[in-house]
Amino acid sequence: MVAVPDIRKRCLIWLGRPTPREREVLAAAGWELRVVDDPASARIGLRGSDLVAGLVDLRGAAPAWRAAMHELLARHPELPLASLGDDGDGELPGERLLSLREPLDLDQVRGLQRIAEGEGAPSACGPDGDCLVGRSPALLQVRASLNKFAPVELPVLVTGETGTGKELAARALHEMSPRARGPFIAVNCGALPPSLVQAELFGHERGAFTGAAARRIGLFEAAHGGTIFLDEVGDLPLDAQTNLLRVLQEGTLERIGSHQSVRVDVRVLAATHVDLEQAVARGRFRQDLYYRLDVLRLHMPPLRERGDDVELLARHFLEAFRRQHQVRARAFDPAARRALRAHAWPGNVRELLNRVRRAAVVSEGELIPAEALQLAAAATPSATAGDGLDEVRVQAEREAILATLRESGFNVSECARRLRVSRVTVYRLCRKHQLELEALRV
Ligand SMILES: Nc1ncnc2c1ncn2[C@@H]1O[C@H](COP(=O)(O)OP(=O)(O)OP(=O)(O)O)[C@@H](O)[C@H]1O
Ligand SMILES: [Mg+2]
Repeated sequence: MVAVPDIRKRCLIWLGRPTPREREVLAAAGWELRVVDDPASARIGLRGSDLVAGLVDLRGAAPAWRAAMHELLARHPELPLASLGDDGDGELPGERLLSLREPLDLDQVRGLQRIAEGEGAPSACGPDGDCLVGRSPALLQVRASLNKFAPVELPVLVTGETGTGKELAARALHEMSPRARGPFIAVNCGALPPSLVQAELFGHERGAFTGAAARRIGLFEAAHGGTIFLDEVGDLPLDAQTNLLRVLQEGTLERIGSHQSVRVDVRVLAATHVDLEQAVARGRFRQDLYYRLDVLRLHMPPLRERGDDVELLARHFLEAFRRQHQVRARAFDPAARRALRAHAWPGNVRELLNRVRRAAVVSEGELIPAEALQLAAAATPSATAGDGLDEVRVQAEREAILATLRESGFNVSECARRLRVSRVTVYRLCRKHQLELEALRV
């Protein structure tokens, strides 16, 4: 088969003034440029077959210019938009899909092509192309925050239930930030043995403690020039919290066994599913550190609040699975789709991903039946209305964790592996649902 080149014209409507260098970059990427310097007297004509994107250049934009730009764009809600420069507090009209940075380079311009092709926010993707799929209002809100927070050099605290995509969002923040070319290091603070946390994070000198045979740099130094993602930050021991505070306040750290400060340039993102305010109240988390981390907050909504995204995600995961494995299943039958909509998803997106994969494997026909999703054990909240809903969800979560524990022979590591959560999460869920592991094992 002969590959047909994309002969559609690419047109970028630039609201503002591009620099000569920016004109060159766009021309090199094959974009025809239409400059709208004065939005008050301009009209935008869109030809159906062309790839068109708008770029709002906010550098030095005066209030009157902004107002005229808003008016013009309000008449074209279909125009996919990118922005350049500080948006201040003013929200752009329409959905902004991409924040560009200066200097504009060919890599960034590639993003314009993707939004013009209607692929949504290309930037909300992990490095392996794992994107934040979803179109629900709740997820659009997340995307809007990602666009706002990514270019800013401040810490972001990502909150949300287990499996809602906190790590994926943190990766997206890094990928969309000016630090994208630097390292991204994710640390699960809950999984590090307390005695080793300090050494892991901040490094140590030779002979600093028994077993420290050589000098080792810590994860903060390894993340220099990039981003560190402190997952389950609420589990950090208090002494490590003190050192983290220092990195945030002064940008320096000391390796264990050394009194020399090392300067590090790292953006800190943190996630938690424990309530940090409560941890502060109980004296388990430093209040000053909490304020330092909670500068910008990104809340990942639970899957049950994302409406039609459940089906969209299910199709996305099935497609991804089909690309890697030979399975017959290619869609969900109507009962399966109803079951997907009705389930409470206590394990959120991760639970959906695992159920879809399992269903794709066990289904024999082209359509996945409801039974293959094995949702029967979990409650169907749509059958219960109003006040009872939360109770049903909590019950569903309890049943899901209990079922997996049973399947894993009450082995926490195995259960964590199956649920794709950390062991700490399994322990936390057991405590929450008053499941006594010792008692259950006998
Ligand atoms: N919107 C989404 N689109 C596509 N994949 C998603 C989305 N959200 C989450 N995922 C996938 O779901 C899985 C769980 O996401 P992630 O690990 O980011 O969740 P988490 O909130 O960090 O979970 P935990 O609290 O258990 O650590 C990952 O495989 C991730 O790629
Ligand atoms: Mg995580």
